[in-house]
Amino acid sequence: MTDPNLDSGRDEEPLVGDGVTAGVVRVGDTVRRPVRPFTATIHAYLRHLHGAGFSDAPIPLGFDDQGREVLSFVPGDVPREPLPAGASGEDVLVELARLVRRLHDAAQSWTPPADATWGGIPGARIVNSTADGEPLVVSHRDYCPGNVVFRDGLPAALIDFDLAKPTTRVDDLANALYYWAPLLHPADRSPAFADLDIPGRVAVFADSYGMSLAQRRALVPAATRMIHRFHVNMRAAAEVDPVFKRMWDEGVKDRLPRAETWIEREGPAITARLVA
Ligand SMILES: Nc1ncnc2c1ncn2[C@@H]1O[C@H](COP(=O)(O)OP(=O)(O)O)[C@@H](O)[C@H]1O
Ligand SMILES: [Mg+2]
Repeated sequence: MTDPNLDSGRDEEPLVGDGVTAGVVRVGDTVRRPVRPFTATIHAYLRHLHGAGFSDAPIPLGFDDQGREVLSFVPGDVPREPLPAGASGEDVLVELARLVRRLHDAAQSWTPPADATWGGIPGARIVNSTADGEPLVVSHRDYCPGNVVFRDGLPAALIDFDLAKPTTRVDDLANALYYWAPLLHPADRSPAFADLDIPGRVAVFADSYGMSLAQRRALVPAATRMIHRFHVNMRAAAEVDPVFKRMWDEGVKDRLPRAETWIEREGPAITARLVA
């Protein structure tokens, strides 16, 4: 393994994604990020993924002399909102679904350590909206554009596993679809996504993942619970954290209630297409 300290003192290039984590920098072929209570758990998870054959994620390289976590830099392009028209093609959904399927299959064989610590958004009121009794898998849970690395115009790798924790496959798929179908009112989508056939896109994603009939039936209820949880938790986070306060004021406060109304109305059409 490379000694992370060999790079210290070299030029640091600030990396600003969605502005949630302050102090993310690139140093050569590595990324340095502040250590959080869940960092060791996530490094163990990433090591498992690579060992199980999923290599489209950062490699954990330890800690540097400033106490920061060191990860491999994943080459490619990370899209930003508003997403470009090229990101609205069905080929993007196909590749994302295959990527998440490979992640789930590699993650399935990992049992987190007894002292595992997980991340979450600040002040969260609802920590879990997973249906009772479902089998759990540790997965990414945050497929926002800033966490997906593209190559040649298609999703190729995932970064930023800060919100990874035990979830169900369906809940995790609902998260990916929230950002990429997307499961939003047309007024809240990137312009290139405003007029798309969302039930058709969800079905393309489901086919590419290989979703079972039971998973297809569970998707809309899972997405509905997730959007409600986002709404409650983002409101709570805005009360305790200035970064989340800014996101809330700049649009989340309108987008999430609109998304709740939208999924209530459009959910049946999505389910009908999924189980057809
Ligand atoms: N391992 C990595 N490889 C390549 N780019 C990265 C990596 N980690 C972070 N970045 C870049 O930095 C941005 C912000 O980092 P991220 O870990 O997503 O932090 P945040 O918690 O703020 O979303 C990302 O959107 C991406 O552009
Ligand atoms: Mg991120």
